[in-house]
Amino acid sequence: MSDKKKKTASNSENQSVGHSGYSIQPGKDTILSGMQPTGALHIGNLEGALRNWVALQDTHEMFCCIVDWHALTADFKNTSELKLKIYEMAVDWLASGLDPEKCAIFIQSDVKAHAELHLLLSMLISVPTLTRLPTYMEKKDEQGMDSYGFLGYPVLQAADILVYGAHKVPVGKDQSKHIWLASDLAKRFNHYYGPTLVEPTTLLTKIPLIPGTDGKKMSKSQDNHIAITATEEETTNKLKRMFTDPQKLRKNDPGRPEVCPVYKLHEVYSTADNIEESIAPQCKSGELGCVDCKTRLIKNLNQTLAPIREKRVELESKTGYIWDVLRDGAVKANARTELVMDNVRSAMNMKYHD
Ligand code: TRP
Repeated sequence: MSDKKKKTASNSENQSVGHSGYSIQPGKDTILSGMQPTGALHIGNLEGALRNWVALQDTHEMFCCIVDWHALTADFKNTSELKLKIYEMAVDWLASGLDPEKCAIFIQSDVKAHAELHLLLSMLISVPTLTRLPTYMEKKDEQGMDSYGFLGYPVLQAADILVYGAHKVPVGKDQSKHIWLASDLAKRFNHYYGPTLVEPTTLLTKIPLIPGTDGKKMSKSQDNHIAITATEEETTNKLKRMFTDPQKLRKNDPGRPEVCPVYKLHEVYSTADNIEESIAPQCKSGELGCVDCKTRLIKNLNQTLAPIREKRVELESKTGYIWDVLRDGAVKANARTELVMDNVRSAMNMKYHD
């Protein structure tokens, strides 16, 4: 493409239809988000990310990506369960309300353009910039992760985003550095080759804090999680063992809702119960014991999850449908990325054949 024909891609008007030529929902800002296929989701993933995605699919053009290549950076040896985990993730997403009519749901490795742009972007960033990122330093020190692939994790993430011309990326605070890096890479690319890539911004979501049953961050590896797949009984048993205010040893001891992880879950699941006026004062005065308090939470949490769990059971066996959704999603994703990559190759003078 000649310089004359190059268009700026940094505003949403260009991006929606005109610039890319392909849009699932014309005229709307584009959103890309991704999740590693770690198997069945827990309520931390559900409340922290998925509910937000479900809301955004009505107002945005949405691409939801199961990032299997990113999963390899943590465990490249053990790939035997990857397919199953991808399947489970797709089922969880659909059960939670992601609608394949409204958004593209697909697997990262079905869209090779992510890998191509990753390689091109990798030229534009120095190794020390990557080794200084907190996400790299932490995992390198804690888990000895020092592969070339892992070092490039945020560059691949940037490619995931930029290859769709996404304007916004809904993520938690821990990821904002990666989105900043994606935006910086878009800026660099545009500086060297002319305006081509959209500079994305973080859509910081007000994520309710979902503590695990031990009061720490909910995580499958810590086994302090409530899986969406868990039955009501399993959920009940886990919540019965959940940590509470350590100073409230006996039923009638005054408690401190502000430090109690069970109360944090009430804040998410018991909104209809007017907890500031019921549970909080009753806990503080010692009227309400932890067992009764948990019983109320268990009822509300199970009630909220019931429709998702029912839908999940219904979808789980529809193997053909789930894989069709992922295949169709990849078709939509490929259509979009090919247009963006065409602009990228033109900008870099790398379109060698007519
Ligand atoms: N790094 C993200 C996480 O750990 C997952 C991810 C990969 C992602 N590619 C992405 C998130 C693109 C948003 C956009 O949660």
